[in-house]
Amino acid sequence: MDASEIDLRVRLGRLELPNPILVASGTFGYAREMERLVDLSRLGGILPKTITFEPRPGNLPWRTVETAAGLLNSIGLDNDGIDAFVKHHLPYLGNLLPPLIVSIAGRDHDEFVAMAARLDGELGIAALELNISCPNVSRGVDYGTDPDKCRKLVTGVRQACRLPICAKLTPNVTSIVEIAQAAEDGGADAISLINTVLGMAVDWRNRRPLLGKVVGGLSGPAIKPIALRCVHQVAQAIDTPLIGIGGIATIDDVMEFLVAGATAVQIGTANYYDPTVSMKLIDQLPAALSELGASCVADIVGTLQINSETSPAPACDREALSPT
Ligand SMILES: Cc1cc2nc3c(=O)[nH]c(=O)nc-3n(C[C@H](O)[C@H](O)[C@H](O)COP(=O)(O)O)c2cc1C
Repeated sequence: MDASEIDLRVRLGRLELPNPILVASGTFGYAREMERLVDLSRLGGILPKTITFEPRPGNLPWRTVETAAGLLNSIGLDNDGIDAFVKHHLPYLGNLLPPLIVSIAGRDHDEFVAMAARLDGELGIAALELNISCPNVSRGVDYGTDPDKCRKLVTGVRQACRLPICAKLTPNVTSIVEIAQAAEDGGADAISLINTVLGMAVDWRNRRPLLGKVVGGLSGPAIKPIALRCVHQVAQAIDTPLIGIGGIATIDDVMEFLVAGATAVQIGTANYYDPTVSMKLIDQLPAALSELGASCVADIVGTLQINSETSPAPACDREALSPT
């Protein structure tokens, strides 16, 4: 099929997106900062920085450290709280063309539910993403590491509001499939995989950790294989649509996540070094889909061939394997 005729729309439960390229929470500010660099109207969806019920100052510095193939952060959900969000950011964000997915983090079950109920009546919100996976705040992952708590939370939020719900999970668990299953059982419309991977960096000369909070979350190219593995494992186990996140920066990355089982993707750390990356990916997506003979995105989602012949080994591996 001609690339220009390909249908880029995707469906995540009750949520429909114009295309599968979204920007990830915490890496795109509140979008206004990006409007001079990015044609915001073309995005598949916008996820502003996670909001909490009360304002939070975030963690002490340093809060970001570059590592060999990624970024470590321990921002700690620095934000002005839900009231300030509704007053100062929502009027702008809610009037943008792409669906707005508001990322929320409560301190406990009741606070998540109260935040969802508060946002339910607000205009311009397409869906909520439950951030139950932030490694940088105390109790930030309670609901993303215990299947029972996760299921009850998603159920509670669904009862409290009519908006579609995405549950954003942490890879820092023994079995991400168990947590994803719980989110599905609770009624999540989509599952976002993954938040950052726990890590740290050390200044050995001064014998000090580089992050003020010692441990933080790793993102960027270093975590892509972990994220792909999570998407693949969860896609094999449940039917809920998945949003792939983790080290996505090129059209090949996007296609790998779609084939592995994601219906959409979020771009995170790459926004920091190339704020226009999402525009490039949207431009390149039709040709990549056309290369696989697809007429829409869904045609290739989860089409990974496991039991057939594996791909030829990359040239460097073939050389290493060949007898000398
Ligand atoms: C500086 C920074 C701040 C982040 N803040 C949030 C946040 O507020 N809420 C959230 O759900 N994820 C947050 N994340 C995680 C990203 O949304 C994303 O899940 C993660 O970085 C993996 O994707 P990437 O490798 O493309 O960056 C943050 C990531 C970074 C690097």
